[in-house]
Order: sequence, then structure tokens, then C-alpha cells
Amino acid sequence: MTPKTTQIFYFSISGNSLALAWDISKRIDAELISIPSVLDKKTITPDADAVGIVFPVYYASNGYGIPLIIERFINKLEGIDSKYVFAVCTHSGMAGSTIEKLQKLIKARGGELAAGFSLNMGSTDMPKEKQQKLLQNQKTKAETISAYVLAQKKGKYETRGILRKIAYALPLHLFIKPVFSRRYRKLSNIKQHLPFIELVQFADRSYQVDPQKCKGCGICAKVCPVDNIKMVDNRPEWQNHCETCYGCFLWCPNEAISGEIVSYNDRRHHPDVGLSDVIKGD
Ligand SMILES: Cc1cc2nc3c(=O)[nH]c(=O)nc-3n(C[C@H](O)[C@H](O)[C@H](O)COP(=O)(O)O)c2cc1C
Repeated sequence: MTPKTTQIFYFSISGNSLALAWDISKRIDAELISIPSVLDKKTITPDADAVGIVFPVYYASNGYGIPLIIERFINKLEGIDSKYVFAVCTHSGMAGSTIEKLQKLIKARGGELAAGFSLNMGSTDMPKEKQQKLLQNQKTKAETISAYVLAQKKGKYETRGILRKIAYALPLHLFIKPVFSRRYRKLSNIKQHLPFIELVQFADRSYQVDPQKCKGCGICAKVCPVDNIKMVDNRPEWQNHCETCYGCFLWCPNEAISGEIVSYNDRRHHPDVGLSDVIKGD
């Protein structure tokens, strides 16, 4: 078998990042590797000349952008100094400075982010026509990214410009951050003033299971990318290190999981992606 020269590591819950990663991998003949499936390794050493990372944006509106699982993954990367590293984030309209933050994380591992792209996949409540348009955009974007990567070009970073950064800084500190933190403190029933990103991991305290609807199938536990769900007496119990990806809520076949924060999202997923594709990504 010819060795692959590109490996694409991906994380995806509602399927947007996976569908895009699929599309790119077909065009450039890359090997696809799910991030949750390698995360228990002590170190992760990619075995290819080029390395891609495809993931969703989380909490850019609150000054973050990179999901915790992606940060943990990057902090385990070894031997990327001589590789061509590219990244793509999918989002619903606000990627903020995610790519710039990623650049710093990769640099701290001794590598260089050659290019960082972002793709708006829209929000869950958008009309059908808009959804079709965004799916078409996905194909165009996959084509653009693939050509860029195959040519091993460098220097494209789809991130927030300086003017937007300035315009956003004040409302972020005065309003958005405190509002988000208050909301998650209440949801998590935590009195301490923990940093937001620590607080969100306790948001699972607000999830509820409808005993009439839950059949004890354990799909929620299988779909959880960070093994945060234990099945106890055929019911899910969350372990308070939640990624807040809402995979348990989204993929429960009986719609048995609810709660203020999960219900704020909806159960839609990418039309090309099914449950078996997101279970640990294998
Ligand atoms: C916890 C959480 C936080 C999110 N934060 C943002 C955000 O700040 N900005 C944004 O544009 N989209 C945000 N999104 C939407 C996702 O980035 C978007 O739907 C993405 O395409 C999902 O990727 P996936 O389908 O591969 O899981 C968030 C989604 C979740 C679950």
C-alpha cells in the first residue's frame, strides 16, 4: 500500500467538520483520523508530510474558539516541526480569532500553521434554501482548500481583522463574558468564580433524562467524545468533564435528553453524516 502523505485529524459532532474533512480528504487522498480515537495516547506523532486539523468553533463569541478537546489534542502533538500543517474550522457565523489562536498553539508545539481556513455552515434554524447554499459553499471551499494544500502554499489565515478585533474587545469584556459566565455558573450550580472554560465542563449538571423516553441504549455514552457519560442502571450519568458538544442530546434516538443549555441547540446534523460516523469517529 502506498503510504499517505497527508493525514487529516478531525473532531465533529453534528457532522459539518466531518463532511468537509471527507470532501478534502477525497480530493487530496488524505488519511482521515478522528481526534477522540487518538486522544488517550500520551503523545501523537503524525505519520505524514502534511497534517490537517478540522474542527468546529466553540465559544468564539465568548473569546475562546478552540474546543477543549482540540487544545488537548494539539498539546500532545509531537514531531510537527518539519511538516506542512493546515487547519479548517467550521462555525455558524462567528469564528472570531480561532485560527489565530490555533497558530499560537501550533507554534508552542514547535510547528508552524501554514494556512488556516474557516467555513460558515450556518445556524440550525436557517431556512432550507440557505442550507442548500451553504452546502454548495462547502464543496467550493473544499476545492479551494484542497488546491491550496496540494500546492503546499502558505500564508492564508482566515481570522478576524484588526478593526473588528478593536470593535469587539470592549463589549466582550464588559458584557458578553460576564453574561456567559453568570449563565454557566447558574446552570452548573457552582458558586466559585471559575474561569469560563473550566465552568462549562460542569454544564452537564443541568442535563436531564426523561425516564419514559430513555431506553438505556447507551448511544449517548458511545457518542460522547470525552467519555463523560457512564451508564448506571441503564441511565446516563454525566461525570462533569463535559465538552458541551451536545452530542448526547443531538444523537439520542429517543430524544430523551433535555435541559436549558442543550435545548438551546437543536437536533439537526449534516445531511451526509449519520450516527455511526460520529461514534468515536471510527
Ligand atoms: C458549545 C458550542 C459552542 C459554539 N460556539 C460557536 C461560536 O462561538 N461561533 C460560531 O460561529 N459557532 C459556534 N458553534 C457552532 C459550531 O461551531 C458549528 O455548528 C460547527 O459547524 C459544528 O461542527 P460539527 O458539525 O463538526 O460538530 C458552537 C457550537 C457548540 C456546540
